[in-house]
This record gives sequence, structure tokens and C-alpha cells, in this order.
Amino acid sequence: MSLSLVIHAADEWADAVAAALTDRLRAEPRLRVCLPTGETPAPLYAALVRQADADLWSQATVVLLDDYVGLSTDDQAAGGPRLRREIVDHVHPASFIDIDQSGDLETAVQRLDAAAIGLDLAIVGLGLNGHIGFNEPGSTADSSTRVVDLHPRSQEAAEGYGTEGAPERGITIGLARLLEAGDLWLLVTGERKAEILSRALEGPEASDVPASFLRRHATLRVVADEPAASLLASR
Ligand code: F6R
Repeated sequence: MSLSLVIHAADEWADAVAAALTDRLRAEPRLRVCLPTGETPAPLYAALVRQADADLWSQATVVLLDDYVGLSTDDQAAGGPRLRREIVDHVHPASFIDIDQSGDLETAVQRLDAAAIGLDLAIVGLGLNGHIGFNEPGSTADSSTRVVDLHPRSQEAAEGYGTEGAPERGITIGLARLLEAGDLWLLVTGERKAEILSRALEGPEASDVPASFLRRHATLRVVADEPAASLLASR
């Protein structure tokens, strides 16, 4: 494991991560990156939209990390529409690979998994329950891209995002594919994430905290703000 831990002041976090991603895109314009939705990346996306030069994303491919199953496209919590609203529609990547649920779910899983092969960079957030994407507690390092039953805390989070659909299932890139990505950035902000971040990085590697398996990635970069990092012994 060669984990790098980068900590920024809370009010500088979004601009700092946006600058790092912008540098990466300048160096590697054809970047293939998966992106999460949620509260953590929202300010990052706003900063990226502010900072992006017209052509920055024009050769890049963006893959949606995960989504709820069965939400209507106008549901506030639906991941694909949210990612479009917050970043994709503003920066115009060459390709945006959404999770298309218009056919059967097995086909959607196969398409998502194919899109997740060969990611240059996987960017993920950390759930309060230790999940990564919708790799919920009980997931292992070899978990595949799949449809999952949502953990109660993930259902609560969907309510917090304003869902009207009470989703019970999610579809997610599996931990195994995320661990194959060229680079992996774990984004974590806010004091409420401090305890789960310390368990993920400094507790035992175990399936009750799926994020703990990210430590197996050769170049994991954890980008936290001060409040989220406040309980880390290694900071
Ligand atoms: C969303 C996703 C989730 C979130 C996690 C943190 O696409 O993959 O794993 O990253 O639940 O959510 P926030 O950022 O809202 O605290």
C-alpha cells in the first residue's frame, strides 16, 4: 500500500481538488474517469465548472459511478441527472457514460462494468456506513459491478438528497473494478465523516467497512478536509 493523505482547510478543499483534477486533465486530456454524486463532490463540481477552460474536458470520458434503481429522471436524487446538472452539462466531456436503466438491469450492469474497465482514475466518496459507490457493508475487495439492496443508511441519504422515490436498490461499479483503476481518489469532507474515515484507513480491513479495501490500491490518494481528518492518528 502506498496511501497518500492530502488534507486541506475546509474552505479550500473544493478549489484544491479541482486544481488537482484540472492538472490531471491537462496532462492527460483523454482521461477516463468515474465520478460520484452526493454532497461531497458538489462543491468540487462547482469549482470545476468555474475553472474549466473551454476545451479541458473535450477529449475526456466520464463514467457515472453508481445510481439508484428505478428513480424517475426528474427525481432530485437520481445520480445520472444530478451529475449532468452539476458538471457534465457544463464541461462537455467527449463522452458521458450514464447508467441506462431503460432496458433490463442485467444489460445495464454489463454496460456499466464494460465502461469501468480501464479507468485511468476512479474518484469516489465515502458513505457514513463505510460504503464506496453502492458497495455496501458486506462487500469485499472482489465485489463485482452489480445491483445491490441498499443499506438503510444509504436509503436515508437518498431522502436527504430529496428523493421522492424511496429507492431500495442501487447499481454500482464493483470494488474489484475500482481497485483496477490506474489511480483512485477518495474524497471525504465534514466532521460527520471523521469516525468512518479513521475506521476505513486505520481500522482492520474488513467487509463491514468496504472503504477499508481501498488500501489495497497501489496509489490510493485520500483527499480530506480538516474536520474529516480530525480523528486520524496518521495525519
Ligand atoms: C454516490 C456514491 C456514494 C457517496 C457516499 C457519500 O455516487 O457513490 O457512495 O459518495 O454515500 O455521500 P455524500 O457525499 O453525500 O456524503
